[in-house]
Amino acid sequence: MINNFLKISNLSKSYDDNSEKIQVLKNLNLSLSDNKLIALLGPSGSGKSTLLHLLALLDKPDNGSIFFDKIDLVKISDEEKTIYRRNAISIVYQNNNLISDLTALENVLIANLCKTQNKGEAHKLAEQILKSFGLESRMNHYPYQLSGGEQQRVAIARAIINNPKIIIADEPTGNLDKKNSDLILNYLIKLKQPGRLILIATHNRELANKMDLRLTLSNGNVNIKS
Ligand SMILES: Nc1ncnc2c1ncn2[C@@H]1O[C@H](COP(=O)(O)OP(=O)(O)O)[C@@H](O)[C@H]1O
Ligand SMILES: [Mg+2]
Repeated sequence: MINNFLKISNLSKSYDDNSEKIQVLKNLNLSLSDNKLIALLGPSGSGKSTLLHLLALLDKPDNGSIFFDKIDLVKISDEEKTIYRRNAISIVYQNNNLISDLTALENVLIANLCKTQNKGEAHKLAEQILKSFGLESRMNHYPYQLSGGEQQRVAIARAIINNPKIIIADEPTGNLDKKNSDLILNYLIKLKQPGRLILIATHNRELANKMDLRLTLSNGNVNIKS
């Protein structure tokens, strides 16, 4: 186990909304080890997406640090952030954001192609992952030809093809029925491994109870329950 695999120190984030300042995260401190599946809970508006976007390097905090890989990710250049997002930190959204004029297979392999430039390898790897997600007969379909649950499986396949060390999912089953939510969750559970941390924002208590740790956001900070 790696202690302090991800360490968040004094993280603050506010938004300016019509000259009013909304303080979403207030000096948040959190230290997480690897090989964990973590649920991020909290009512709508409590700042789950804000925190996950900061961790996915899609936004900048007002203050604080995000230590990973022995460096403070807040301080690195935009070019370095792009490299981290490509190789180490992946995010899955509630809406899958698949590219509509690419097939399922192409949507997945393109993420790997950006990293390796090897089309043959990327193709093979994408096929392998989609098969493991039960999508072997859906690989050459376009997103509009897939169900919501299938689209979300493709989005997860795309998020993991580069073997990320941190997987972030922001209400990944928010638009799905119970059967598909359970299916997606079971695929996410299988991705847990040493050297990797998985964070999932969800409103689903039953689902959260199956995870290793539950974090609840309230008043800009986080409470931990194991
Ligand atoms: N880009 C933004 N500009 C202004 N306010 C925002 C922005 N993004 C989020 N907020 C506000 O920050 C708070 C936290 O939002 P969010 O992180 O999306 O919460 P959650 O994901 O838990 O529902 C909310 O009050 C929301 O309205
Ligand atoms: Mg949200």
